[in-house]
Amino acid sequence: MKKSFFAAITLIFALGLLMAGCGGEKKAEQKVLRVGTEPTFAPFEFQKEGSKDYTGFDMDLARAIGKQLGMKVEIVSMGFDGLIPALNAGNIDAVAAGMTVTPERANSVKFSEPYYKSGLSVMVRKDENAITGIESLKGKKIAVQIGTTGAMEAHKIADAKVVEFNTNTEAALELKNGGVDAVVNDLPVVAYFLQQGGGKDFAKMVGKVVTAEEYAIAVKKGNDKLAGDINKALAELKKNGEYDKIYKTWFGEQVK
Ligand code: ARG
Repeated sequence: MKKSFFAAITLIFALGLLMAGCGGEKKAEQKVLRVGTEPTFAPFEFQKEGSKDYTGFDMDLARAIGKQLGMKVEIVSMGFDGLIPALNAGNIDAVAAGMTVTPERANSVKFSEPYYKSGLSVMVRKDENAITGIESLKGKKIAVQIGTTGAMEAHKIADAKVVEFNTNTEAALELKNGGVDAVVNDLPVVAYFLQQGGGKDFAKMVGKVVTAEEYAIAVKKGNDKLAGDINKALAELKKNGEYDKIYKTWFGEQVK
């Protein structure tokens, strides 16, 4: 009688410990991957009207990568020009922000394999006839997002007055309000903005792709382990069809 009573108590204890152990382990196992972004860059990263959630191609890709790595992805929003400093300060682990691989950036961060081909384009008001592409921007007023490749290109144009904004939303608004003659921004972003009827049809895209760029995920320089893990995850997502699925969600059937 006594023996079986103790046995039962021991069993209950053991079970309890086991269950507690499982719960605790799960929590400790799910590491967090802090992914920094600047969310005025639809369809790559943005917030749908009235929603606080971050959505878009990069967000889906970052979450899919996190899933591959068994990590919980936490999106951290900040200014585009703050992303690399945040990475280097250790406040975020990775950047997924439609960030173009450039030689200058590659000096201060480690890039993953590229995951998207892009380029710049020019957006003007619908009634604009003088500006037909980047070559006609000399001496013009141009709005850009601060710290972007668009800003870098705009600064190269002779006698242009470049106005830098924290968000692409503000840059587009400035064009609408007549404060600038053009916006230089990434082509897929301008295309999506116009296609979605952004700014009630006040704008159009002119000229061809200005540059050939590639987006990649950035991690802190020296964090080769994470860069390697991300590359492995990317390769797996391309192999298992998940990348194509995400691509189709945001770009339809158009060629990569
Ligand atoms: N591709 C451009 C660059 O790397 C613009 C990226 C802007 N991204 C954003 N999330 N606002 O400079």
